[in-house]
Amino acid sequence: MTNDQCSIEFKHVTKKFGAATVLDDVNFGIKKDKITTVLGFSGAGKTTLMKHILGLTMPTSGDVVVLGTAINHIGELELREFRRNFGMVFQYAALFDFLTSFENVAFPLREFTKMSEEQITDKVMGLLVSVGISKEAAYRLPSELSGGMRKRVGLARGLALDPHIMLYDEPTSGLDPITTHMVYDLMRETHYNNVHNGFTSVIISHDIHATLKYSDEIVFMENGHVVEHLDVESFKKSENPVIRRFLEL
Ligand SMILES: Nc1ncnc2c1ncn2[C@@H]1O[C@H](COP(=O)(O)OP(=O)(O)OP(=O)(O)O)[C@@H](O)[C@H]1O
Ligand SMILES: [Mg+2]
Repeated sequence: MTNDQCSIEFKHVTKKFGAATVLDDVNFGIKKDKITTVLGFSGAGKTTLMKHILGLTMPTSGDVVVLGTAINHIGELELREFRRNFGMVFQYAALFDFLTSFENVAFPLREFTKMSEEQITDKVMGLLVSVGISKEAAYRLPSELSGGMRKRVGLARGLALDPHIMLYDEPTSGLDPITTHMVYDLMRETHYNNVHNGFTSVIISHDIHATLKYSDEIVFMENGHVVEHLDVESFKKSENPVIRRFLEL
């Protein structure tokens, strides 16, 4: 795989916390234009991997190259600016409780752009409509929304700055199966509506069924290692015993 096919590259990344090695010589690339899901049992190192992509955690050794920049070699200010390339949706949506849906989505626009109030209103309402949030719900607080609606607002906020890379850490945990599929549909729709820009989606998930249905590529982690990186169809046929066990759960 050539570098220009990948938007994110891990180059021999090792991460230690004290005596524990949480990422062990991780060396692989995440392709542009694809939905890649990171799978693995609890404690495998998935969230740590994602934090390296955002530069929230720095490698003990090796490099993390995102959109051609080794982000472990740039300063904090540059890194803050660089993070505009990312949209993030975390577990529990992590909305600001004291802000309406509208204000949650407007927040990054107010923080990072010089858009006028009118431009902000247009952009926010457009984003909320695109994720299926009504005008009426736009003015409610997160506590007045269902879990699935909060995820949608979180997704709209993640998309506000037109990111090149969307990162989702267990975006459907705590949702019922129907809402889970709705959120996956939305992630997939978001991906393929933006794919002409070299858009990359990275999802951490425990939901094996949704993953196999909605992803293009699978990265399987175990004990800080990437043990497989395959397209979905090859992954389903993997004979790795740990993966078989995971698939048969
Ligand atoms: N800041 C930290 N300090 C020390 N140890 C850490 C830190 N962050 C993560 N770890 C350890 O690294 C290992 C991997 O954690 P990580 O959160 O990446 O796992 P995960 O694959 O995301 O698991 P889960 O599916 O439960 O979310 C765990 O053993 C965890 O205790
Ligand atoms: Mg995790």
